Amino acid sequence: MIALAGTDADTHTAATALAFGDGILGALGQNMAALGLAGRAFVITDERVGERYGDATMAALERAGYRPALRAIAGGETAKSLAGAAKLYSWLADERAERRDTIVALGGGVIGDLAGFVAATYLRGIALVQVPTNVLAQVDSAIGGKTAINLPHGKNLVGAFHPARLTLIDVAFLDSLPLRELRSGWAEVLKTAILFDPPLFELLETAQPHGLERRQLLDVITRCVQWKVKIVKEDPTEKGPRMLLNLGHTIGHAIEAACRYETYLHGEAVAIGLTGATEISRRRGLVDQALAGRIEASLRLDGLPVRFDRTKATPEQVLAAAASDKKAQGARLRWILIRGLGDPEIVTDVPPELVLDVLEWLSEPAA
Ligand SMILES: NC(=O)c1ccc[n+]([C@@H]2O[C@H](COP(=O)([O-])OP(=O)(O)OC[C@H]3O[C@@H](n4cnc5c(N)ncnc54)[C@H](O)[C@@H]3O)[C@@H](O)[C@H]2O)c1
Ligand SMILES: [Zn+2]
Repeated sequence: MIALAGTDADTHTAATALAFGDGILGALGQNMAALGLAGRAFVITDERVGERYGDATMAALERAGYRPALRAIAGGETAKSLAGAAKLYSWLADERAERRDTIVALGGGVIGDLAGFVAATYLRGIALVQVPTNVLAQVDSAIGGKTAINLPHGKNLVGAFHPARLTLIDVAFLDSLPLRELRSGWAEVLKTAILFDPPLFELLETAQPHGLERRQLLDVITRCVQWKVKIVKEDPTEKGPRMLLNLGHTIGHAIEAACRYETYLHGEAVAIGLTGATEISRRRGLVDQALAGRIEASLRLDGLPVRFDRTKATPEQVLAAAASDKKAQGARLRWILIRGLGDPEIVTDVPPELVLDVLEWLSEPAA
């Protein structure tokens, strides 16, 4: 086990221990005990993940002397709600959970955000352990301490920064991921490579996630986590460089919202958003056609969409959704553009006309 995150007393950057491996779920309890987590362990998961990995998780905790309890909820984005949190608070209260106890979030980004939010708020905050089970959660949502639930008004409007004491990343979980989910999470991997890691991008240009050996998967995921940890350490509360992680997300979030979260998985929308952000960068003269082509080809190689379906949402609707996203600063949208691989920049002066032109282009079937 290695500790990569910051160690200062500031709660936003409290140390998160990271454990990486292939088949290390069995060591979950030992890793927790080594960190001094002494109370009971309350595992929160969704039904799909719980069915596969619930028993092994409970056994790993019992072996280390914990008295664990497990709650499997119906998954999906709608679970990330005040009502969903309230049910978990009631369960914890019925179980007489105490300040010294720990919540273990076993699942994808939905479970990590919801269980993390419950951990951040129950009894004013109890310890959290993240056990992310899909690519998106392993490289992104389980790292960096953001937790949230949705309101009817929008996604992630209520939340807290509550870093996990431990994040245990086991690539063995990825064996049971449906291919579409694996590919969707891979969009965040490609995003990380484009942002920070040209050699990793070169490797990924010729590799598909389902073609990688577990050892290689572990290497790629570890590298992405290390980049995210580095950025989060520099900027835990997203006032500066952490915003770079939103590459592809201005358009991506807008496409998801304009399609009412029905058409594209998050990573698929991000893949389209990465293509769009690259095209805006190209039209502003920041990158050449050759690089834009390489980025699009790498997304396509992984089976990700690079254009959106205008029968599901028009360019105007996507632009309107972008403007109403909470990340918009007043009337000005914030864009992450690239000047090259490993060379991103944050800009706010992209004219809406250019955005609309690119959204038009992005909704034409690709040649
Ligand atoms: N906190 C953050 O920093 C952050 C960052 C990015 C995304 N998010 C949030 O993450 C959420 C999306 O996460 P998601 O896409 O992981 O959704 P999700 O948690 O619903 O997982 C997607 C599906 O994968 C299944 N799954 C997970 N692991 C599996 C496994 N090993 N085998 C088989 N199936 C498995 C789940 O049961 C679910 O059906 C959004 O709510 C988003 O806001 C948060
Ligand atoms: Zn994302």
